[in-house]
Amino acid sequence: MEERRLGPVVGLGTWNTFGGDAANAAQVVGAAIEAGTRVFDSSPMYGGAEASLGAALRERRDGTTVATKIWTQSVDEGREQYRRQVEWFGRVEIEQVHNLVAWREQLAWLEDERAEGRIDRLGVTHYAARAFGELAEALRTRRFDVVQVPYNPHEREVERELLPLAAELGIAVIVMRPLAEGALVRRSPPADALRELGVATWAQALLKWALSDERVDLVIPATSRPERTAENAEAGSPPWFGPDERRYVEELAA
Ligand SMILES: NC(=O)c1ccc[n+]([C@@H]2O[C@H](COP(=O)([O-])OP(=O)(O)OC[C@H]3O[C@@H](n4cnc5c(N)ncnc54)[C@H](OP(=O)(O)O)[C@@H]3O)[C@@H](O)[C@H]2O)c1
Repeated sequence: MEERRLGPVVGLGTWNTFGGDAANAAQVVGAAIEAGTRVFDSSPMYGGAEASLGAALRERRDGTTVATKIWTQSVDEGREQYRRQVEWFGRVEIEQVHNLVAWREQLAWLEDERAEGRIDRLGVTHYAARAFGELAEALRTRRFDVVQVPYNPHEREVERELLPLAAELGIAVIVMRPLAEGALVRRSPPADALRELGVATWAQALLKWALSDERVDLVIPATSRPERTAENAEAGSPPWFGPDERRYVEELAA
């Protein structure tokens, strides 16, 4: 798989898929690592997902990257979330402020953790276009290394300001919702169209669509099915789509 600034370009999300069933989560993580995936995204917002991910990674943590989040208005509770994460994961490589919640307050102590070398990169996330102005403001402080945003053929607002800004400031980009929470993969275009794009499945076409934008470092599709991790990871190798192929994917997704 191709590697960019955050590692192999197809990671794994855990929202909605890792909360309930820790045994299944362990199977998904095992299959994902087998397929070359190394970056795992989670959050205190995702129910028991962090605990399941921690347990799943315990025996295979070497060479993996945990990207999780702080999600609370309170600095004390933020520190407590981080303390629990260190218990689950040993350390956190990428710590993100979830949905911009109290980002200035959380950033102050997170920067100390980064300065001490306990966290490698600080990030900030938001899922909604209405918050992208504030997200841009946060990036302009130059205090974040990573930004996480939605990007798929149905959600392209980040092309206007955030992707150019991230590129200008040298900030790495994580793409959430690359399959539009599964909405884009409920039906697939005909096999002929996929063949023309050089992919085996429609999910791969959508992941390649995002990764073919060179400003993107990582996509984090979530799945509860171990076998889909290999399918998704296969989308992480060149050749990438040019403008015509990307437009074709957009037409197929319309
Ligand atoms: N949604 C948000 O607002 C949000 C916000 C912040 C962060 N994130 C992060 O971003 C990650 C990804 O976003 P997401 O989970 O919302 O949506 P997503 O990754 O776009 O879509 C996940 C859905 O796609 C299905 N899927 C995965 N691979 C597939 C394949 N090869 N073929 C067919 N279906 C496939 C999964 O179903 P199966 O389980 O049946 O495979 C799941 O229902 C999250 O897990 C989380 O870590 C999301």
